[in-house]
Amino acid sequence: MRMFISLFIIIFATIVSCLDNGLGKTPPMGWNSYNHFNCSINETLIKSIADAMIKYGFRNAGYTYLNLDYCWQNKTRDKKTNRLIPDPKAFPKGIKDLANYVHNKGLLFGIYGDAGTADCANRPGSLGFEELDAQTFADWGVDYLKYDNCHNNNIDPIIRYSKMRDALKATNRPIYYSICNWGEFDPHIWGKEVGNSWRTTVDIYHSWESILFTLDKQRNISTFSSPGGWNDPDMLEIGNAGLTFDEQKSHFSLWAALKAPLLLGFDLRNPPKNTLAVALNEKIIAVNQDPLGQSVKIVDFVDDIYEIWTGPLSDGYVAVLFNRLIIPYDITLNFETHCGLNGTIAVTDLWDDDPFKGNFTDSYTSQVPSHGVTVLKLQVVDNKFLD
Ligand SMILES: *[C@@H]1O[C@H](CO)[C@@H](O)[C@H](O)[C@H]1NC(C)=O
Ligand SMILES: *[C@@H]1O[C@H](CO)[C@@H](O)[C@H](O)[C@H]1NC(C)=O
Ligand SMILES: *[C@@H]1O[C@H](CO)[C@@H](O)[C@H](O)[C@H]1NC(C)=O
Ligand SMILES: *[C@@H]1O[C@H](CO)[C@@H](O)[C@H](O)[C@H]1NC(C)=O
Ligand SMILES: *[C@@H]1O[C@H](CO)[C@@H](O)[C@H](O)[C@H]1NC(C)=O
Ligand SMILES: *[C@@H]1O[C@H](CO)[C@@H](O)[C@H](O)[C@H]1NC(C)=O
Repeated sequence: MRMFISLFIIIFATIVSCLDNGLGKTPPMGWNSYNHFNCSINETLIKSIADAMIKYGFRNAGYTYLNLDYCWQNKTRDKKTNRLIPDPKAFPKGIKDLANYVHNKGLLFGIYGDAGTADCANRPGSLGFEELDAQTFADWGVDYLKYDNCHNNNIDPIIRYSKMRDALKATNRPIYYSICNWGEFDPHIWGKEVGNSWRTTVDIYHSWESILFTLDKQRNISTFSSPGGWNDPDMLEIGNAGLTFDEQKSHFSLWAALKAPLLLGFDLRNPPKNTLAVALNEKIIAVNQDPLGQSVKIVDFVDDIYEIWTGPLSDGYVAVLFNRLIIPYDITLNFETHCGLNGTIAVTDLWDDDPFKGNFTDSYTSQVPSHGVTVLKLQVVDNKFLD
């Protein structure tokens, strides 16, 4: 019954209005304050993060959004105008000043709101104030809105999230719209009409167990992503405590190939050296930003041992061979059964310093380290079946 009502609302919402902001043709890339700093943010910190995005080459690698999460707000709205206002201690110069600073660095600026009566830090929510708040964000020069789900009074998310979509549209400012309703009520079904991406799960955490839990939830929905509307398995935990180098590579590669938003969440002012090598791998980023915008899907696995995820690119094919064991494991990619490819295949290993592996027919085997990945790009160089 609920499904039926939801479907009716989707159809209705689609007719009345649908998201058409021209944004998110490839998954968004950037940084968000939550995973590392939680509620401890202020304008000094955010400005130094903007500086670090330039200094360490994040912006040039494609990370353009600098996004505040919760705790930017004061505990009450402005008493006269009802507008949202920043916490005066943390952001004494205000949000517009901060957005200007970020824009002057050649970056885009994102903010956080909530589709409820209060947000997840018990600051004012936007339910019932959608138009006023969307206009406030637009007036400040906001380019991205993460819209959370706390204190939502159990109102249908399609209704709550569509209201903010329409309010953002009415401002005429292009604002990337990130639905954060924790994967509830199948947002992969209706999210594309409403936002540029939708969270598919509860919050991620900086532990290997959380990465695996989140990944497993993507198995049967990965194909719902496409340009303009992406599955969002939550922000990256690379660079935060708790993950080995190989685990960071796996997390980053799988999220990239799933066409997830690539939002870094570590302290960019002091980037761990091995995390820099992960976050700035331009070949993996190119998989994420490929203009075809088609996610990998899982084509083979043995529970708790290995997984093979494959999908097309605009100029070839990508395969992620993932080892879930605590020992190294040989994983064999079969070009025909796993990718539907015949003939001679040029194989490139996107993490290898010596990436071109040669021309192969039938299959390619890689010894994958514990909790690690091998990411292969495949290009057909000669297909006798097509001649
Ligand atoms: C942020 O802080 C809240 C409140 O203390 C806590 O519940 C939450 O787990 C924290 N999140 C992270 C990512 O540390
Ligand atoms: C700003 O936030 C950072 C990170 O939480 C903290 O180290 C710093 O002390 C804060 N600065 C001010 C002025 O509050
Ligand atoms: C900010 O919130 C506090 C309550 O925490 C309130 O006393 C104060 O008046 C608010 N500031 C403004 C400018 O409204
Ligand atoms: C994916 O699988 C989960 C349970 O494993 C199920 O609840 C959900 O409906 C499935 N989604 C799709 C799109 O099939
Ligand atoms: C690959 O070759 C098999 C025959 O061995 C054929 O059945 C299949 O259609 C071919 N697939 C492609 C993508 O060419
Ligand atoms: C792989 O095949 C391509 C196309 O036939 C050819 O140009 C190239 O030399 C081959 N490389 C190797 C290492 O065999």
